[in-house]
Amino acid sequence: MNVLVTGGAGFIGSHIVDLLVEKGCTVSIVDNLSTGRPENINPGANFCNIDVRDPGLKEIVAREKPSAVIHLAAQVDVQRSLQDPHTDAEINIIGAVNLLDACSASGVGKVVYASTAAVYGSPAYLPVDERHPVAPQSPYGLSKHTVEHYLRLYRDMHGINFTVLRFANVYGPRQDATGEGGVVAIFIDKLAKGVKPVIFGDGEQTRDFIYVKDVAAASLAALQQGDGGTFNVSTGKGLSVNYLYQALKALTGSIMEPLYQPPRPGDITHSTLSNARACVSLDWRPRYILMEGLRETVDFCR
Ligand SMILES: NC(=O)c1ccc[n+]([C@@H]2O[C@H](COP(=O)([O-])OP(=O)(O)OC[C@H]3O[C@@H](n4cnc5c(N)ncnc54)[C@H](O)[C@@H]3O)[C@@H](O)[C@H]2O)c1
Repeated sequence: MNVLVTGGAGFIGSHIVDLLVEKGCTVSIVDNLSTGRPENINPGANFCNIDVRDPGLKEIVAREKPSAVIHLAAQVDVQRSLQDPHTDAEINIIGAVNLLDACSASGVGKVVYASTAAVYGSPAYLPVDERHPVAPQSPYGLSKHTVEHYLRLYRDMHGINFTVLRFANVYGPRQDATGEGGVVAIFIDKLAKGVKPVIFGDGEQTRDFIYVKDVAAASLAALQQGDGGTFNVSTGKGLSVNYLYQALKALTGSIMEPLYQPPRPGDITHSTLSNARACVSLDWRPRYILMEGLRETVDFCR
């Protein structure tokens, strides 16, 4: 199978590329290295350094001739989307439309799209399933959700098949600990530097932490299954930030206590996503238990 992965030099995308290469697929990467890193690029893939908004993307897709595209390239910083919604919309919406036009012109059969739990906004009930109302609370959540509509439209207008995957909180090796990086990467980074990590609120807020290799497996499953569907990719289990911190303390051998600060405005208290639909329709389930995933991540950071 010939697959093009946008954002393939990034955290999640590079794990997807690794798995595709391992399975013997022909893989091309489209990435402008804005947050992705050259060292993440699998040498078995063909790397194209181009912005998803670039009109030249059409020629790249025509040349690489993928049968399917996994679209991850995005502006992923929620805070940046609040400060600069214009750029967020340009990259996440216009970039995706540019890609879909290129896919349509080259007869790409399917697009698997990396969406996010941020589309749901504040949960009205837990666990959040795919029927939960959509009410994004940031331009990032809104731009990611808007593309879900474009996918449906492009299927109806141009016959491009699609699957939407809404990822929970993804963690694992290669995650960026700077800026708005995931809490796991930030905690490991601070513990390694001997700096007290900050926990906002009392630490009893829960999140659904899914290991990046499980996300990669779900993305590959969606290449063959789940046509026209939307699926949460999650563990279905809520884990408190305090629990996560204690687990990382134990794995790193640290004795450092965290610094508690007042909760940030708009922070959601509890978030858990049901993965029942993905388990049935994608024939997928998370394989990694938390300690396994955290151990691999800590080992990588060392
Ligand atoms: N990390 C998470 O917890 C999480 C959760 C839900 C959804 N997602 C989604 O997963 C996808 C990947 O996120 P990630 O955490 O790996 O982030 P990342 O920043 O590591 O990866 C994004 C990649 O896209 C590239 N990129 C950004 N803008 C581009 C552009 N204009 N043109 C070409 N390439 C561009 C970056 O260089 C980078 O390699 C995103 O679509 C994100 O919305 C991530």
